[in-house]
This record gives sequence, structure tokens and C-alpha cells, in this order.
Amino acid sequence: MDRYNVLLIGSGGRENAISWKLAQSEKLGKLYIAPGNPGTAQFGKNVQLDVNDFEAVAEFVETNSVELVVVGPEDPLVNGIADFLRAKNIAVFGPEKNAARLEGSKEFAKEFMLKYNIPTADFAVFSSLDYDDALKFIISKDTYPIVLKADGLAAGKGVFICNSEDEVKQRLLAIKKDDTLSKAASRLVVEEFMEGEEVSVFVICDGHSSHILHYAQDHKRIGDGDTGLNTGGMGAYSPAPLLNEALLEQIQSEIIDPTITGMQLEESAYTGILYVGLMMTADGPKVVEYNCRFGDPECQVILPSLENDLLDLMIAATEQRLDEKSIQIDDKYRCCVVLASEGYPLNYEKGKVITGLNKITGDVQLFHAGTAQKGKDIITNGGRVLNVVSSGKTLRGAIDSTYENVQKISFENCYYRKDIGHKGLKRISSL
Ligand code: AMP
Ligand code: GLY
Repeated sequence: MDRYNVLLIGSGGRENAISWKLAQSEKLGKLYIAPGNPGTAQFGKNVQLDVNDFEAVAEFVETNSVELVVVGPEDPLVNGIADFLRAKNIAVFGPEKNAARLEGSKEFAKEFMLKYNIPTADFAVFSSLDYDDALKFIISKDTYPIVLKADGLAAGKGVFICNSEDEVKQRLLAIKKDDTLSKAASRLVVEEFMEGEEVSVFVICDGHSSHILHYAQDHKRIGDGDTGLNTGGMGAYSPAPLLNEALLEQIQSEIIDPTITGMQLEESAYTGILYVGLMMTADGPKVVEYNCRFGDPECQVILPSLENDLLDLMIAATEQRLDEKSIQIDDKYRCCVVLASEGYPLNYEKGKVITGLNKITGDVQLFHAGTAQKGKDIITNGGRVLNVVSSGKTLRGAIDSTYENVQKISFENCYYRKDIGHKGLKRISSL
């Protein structure tokens, strides 16, 4: 059987989960991860490459006989790494620049949904020159809350839900004063606020065919009860009881199929993982956002549930053969709790020694995110430090088992949410 040497790009918990799953593939030759973390080093060789230097990535691929590049995070995709490598005949799992606009430009995504009749919140787009026009528009609507979104990538910091005209004015001023944000918001999307619960659906695509892999619910706020600042994600669980077969079919026919077909019609055929962030509103599912990659930490609960060989699926996607495949998901619930450095998403300390890692045993995954190796120790090296993932026949079982394992790990200033999955439990008890 052919074996494939793979280069995986990224360094978070998501990439640790991808490397863990790829390492189970019979088709895997060598696995390289750039830059990786101490968790990914258990499954392949971490290599110090500047992943924004596409020429250097291509050179590494050629010297090391890499047959497939898998891109974890959005930045290199939005910047065109897939186009660059494909032009050199290198197979890449991930969308090209034009397709990654679904995440890279909120204006593009909103206009696209409008054109192809995909349900989403009403919106209007303004340029930074006419924030005054944006303000006039908002005042004339006089409906709060209202949502302001920077058009470009803003590392999760470009969305503002404003409850009053004053708050809108303050926010627009703050955006203008912030160099990075004002760049991302050179176009500003003003959007109707959608009421409901959120869920993320993950779709694997080859440009023409697609399959839903699975779905999960993230916990974006730092505090229990969804309070406090937005983060990259503090935990996830899957499957979310918010969806059922009928809703999944509706999401497939009203949202996923028109997205895949629409992107073909835009000559931007979509290959890779399409992350569809949905709001389950009283009027049915509506798209909050598209992302051009796996979610982090959603990936950490989805991949352990996937029975397929991930590498086999990724190769099929790059060869437009996904129609030959079907997706198998096991019948367990999974929960992921993110252990973070106290202070995240603002300021936090690094370099704390982590203990208890070897106490995690059995059918429990421990994925590294912001960690580093220092001599014999593993130390904290980022805001989101570790992910503990466990499973159960019930959601309650998965949550309890995950928190039991979380207790085994410690480091100074360790913070985690205590209520991951509770919204799911509440929904199950009300069904
Ligand atoms: P986004 O980056 O577009 O996903 O927005 C980040 C978060 O802001 C989402 O996960 C939602 O929680 C919230 N959000 C964004 N747009 C809306 C909206 N139109 N209505 C309600 N909440 C929203
Ligand atoms: N967990 C949210 C994201 O990956 O965008």
C-alpha cells in the first residue's frame, strides 16, 4: 500500500488532535508538524518552519518527499498557501485563497449568502470612511442589540454586540483608534442580532462532493454561564442535542449544499474542512459565520468520534473522490475542557511546570496547545494550555469523566470552566 509523508501546519490543540488521528492511519509514512508542540511531537517530527514563508514550506516539502500538506489554521489559507503549493504540484488539504474568503472576508461571506439565498442575519456593509453612514444607518434602525463586525481576520476580536446607540458610538471610536482592528475593519459589516443557541457543523469537501463529519457546541466566553470576554474557545462537546436528523437534513439542503454549489459557481470550488457556525433561531438555522478550517477546541471532540481513517478522507478530498466515501461516527458523547493560564484572554504568565500528565490513562485524550518542553518538564507556554477529552455513553458520563481527569493535572494559575456541556444537559432534560 502507498504510504504518504505528511506535513501538518499549526501548533494548537487542534493540530495535536489532527496529528493523533493521522498517526492511526495505515497510509501514513512520515509525519512532520510545523511548528507543532510537545503533544504533536509524540506522533511525528516537529520542524521549525516559518509557515508564512510559503517558499520555505515548498522547499521543505520537496526535500523531504512530502506528499500531502494539511493546513490547520486559517491565516496561511486566507493568505494563499494552498494556491502557492498547488501551483508547484503539491497536494494540499485546505481551501485556496478565493475559497477561504468565506472566513477571510465577512463582506464576501454575507454577499455570497444573500446571492445564494442561504439563511443568515440581515446586514449592511460600510467602509471605514463612512463609519458616519454606519452610525446614521444604525440610528435610523433603532433596534438593539446590533452587531458590528470587522470584515477581515481579527483573531476572534472583531465582533461587537452593542446594546445602545452610545455603545455603538464608543465601539466605532475604539475600532478607529486600534491599528490592527481598524485595518481589519476597513470594511465594516453591521448585522441584525440573532436570538438563539449556537452549534458548529463540520463538513469535509472536495470542491464538488461533501459530507458532514459531525457537529459540536463550543463555549466561547471565558466565564461559567457564558459570561466575560470572548476567547478562542474554552471547551466543547459533541454531539450537541440541539440538532437532530431532521434539522441536519434541513441544514444540509438549505445551507451546506447551496454553499458548495455557490462556491463552484463563483469559480472558488471549496476543498478542505468547512466549519459552518449556526444560530438555531425561531425561524430555523441561520449562518453566523463560516470558517475555512476545523474549530479549536471542536476538532478535539470530533476527531476521536470519527471512525474513518482521516488521512484516507483527506487524500480522497484532494483527489475529488469524496463521493466514494461515507462517514462513520461512533455512538459516544465527548467532552473537551480547555485548561488555560489564569488571566487569558488578556495577560497571563508562562513557564509554570505542569504535573500529573502521566496520570491520564484509558480512553481519554490529552491534547497539548500552549505548552513547551523545558528539560524533563512540560511547562505552560500560552493562554490555552491543554485539552482534556473524554467520552461516555451519555453526555453526563462524558462530562463527569472529563472533569475527573482534569483534576489529575495541575499547574500554578490553572483556570478552566466548570460548566462545559451543561447547556446540552439542560436541553436533554427538557426534551
Ligand atoms: P463570528 O466571528 O462572526 O462568529 O462572531 C463571534 C460570535 O459573536 C459568534 O459566535 C456569536 O456568539 C456572536 N455573533 C456574531 N454574529 C451574531 C449575530 N448576528 N447575532 C447574535 N450573535 C452573533
Ligand atoms: N472555537 C472557535 C473557532 O475555532 O473559531
